[in-house]
Amino acid sequence: MTRSAPLSADALLADVLEGMGRTPKSLPCKYLYDARGSHLFDRITELEEYYPTATELAIMEAHLDEIVACLGPRCLLLEYGSGSSLKTRLLLDRLPEPAGYVAIDISEEHLSASMRHLQEMYSHIPMRAVPADYTTSFAVPSNGFDAARTVVYFPGSTIGNFEPREAHAFLARMARAAGPGGGLLIGVDLEKDRATVEAAYNDAQGVTAAFNKNLLRRMNRELGATFDPETFRHRAVYNLEEGRIEMSLVSACDQTVRVNGHHIRFEEGEPICVEYSYKFTLERFQGLAERAGFAVRNVWMDANRLFSVQYLTVL
Ligand code: AVI
Repeated sequence: MTRSAPLSADALLADVLEGMGRTPKSLPCKYLYDARGSHLFDRITELEEYYPTATELAIMEAHLDEIVACLGPRCLLLEYGSGSSLKTRLLLDRLPEPAGYVAIDISEEHLSASMRHLQEMYSHIPMRAVPADYTTSFAVPSNGFDAARTVVYFPGSTIGNFEPREAHAFLARMARAAGPGGGLLIGVDLEKDRATVEAAYNDAQGVTAAFNKNLLRRMNRELGATFDPETFRHRAVYNLEEGRIEMSLVSACDQTVRVNGHHIRFEEGEPICVEYSYKFTLERFQGLAERAGFAVRNVWMDANRLFSVQYLTVL
């Protein structure tokens, strides 16, 4: 994937038509993150019910000395995500002699705004922004940095938004990006009781609903589709057997929507699956990481074992 066009309208149309042809209908969750979607996601991270962000931050704060000691001096930090989080700043504040910081994100506007801000705050750290879809292969610009090792930073448990097979392929790609001697610092959400998980994805203010429905607005704007977001309802259910929360938009009535000349029929109660968010046991994540070429070196958790931050090294 190259700099200027992380995701084209053609790719969006092809993916939408493919997903709408499935049973049940589905859409790839990467399309949730246009500028408005990224902004809504930032709001989700501030919600009372959404425990992952605050818990991960608290873990990072409590164990920062150990974490930066693992990353070591002259580390090139390669973040998969926009770098707008407080957690990134904690690392940049404390890393000993950082060799550089590279952020890769699908939302170009979001990325350039947060990188401008970060570069002003950390003028001594060489930085680069890469607008790209990090779920595909893209050139990692690690040249020009005087680095002892490369560590990929992937916070937020975004790994949970991949299906197991994709998660494996993605972790393997991160192992290649980090290279020999490199590592991965990753946030991994843990299995827990249904009430806590479902509250986190069905927030009282409806921000998660707006975030998911933004996908319909995006299709209207970018593909000239005719979705009426008011006729779809957000649903998030914890599937304990699969170990994931399943988010969908459910049609409130029988209706036909047009997408680029195609007529897509919905029955009342029919869902469009928009996102899965897997929750892991430590053992399950360790198995996944090892199969992808990593060894788990350190695991830090909060007292309630809601969330984990893990440091993995390339095998
Ligand atoms: C980005 N990702 C880790 C979030 C999650 O918790 O799975 C996305 C999200 N979707 C709705 N709320 C949060």
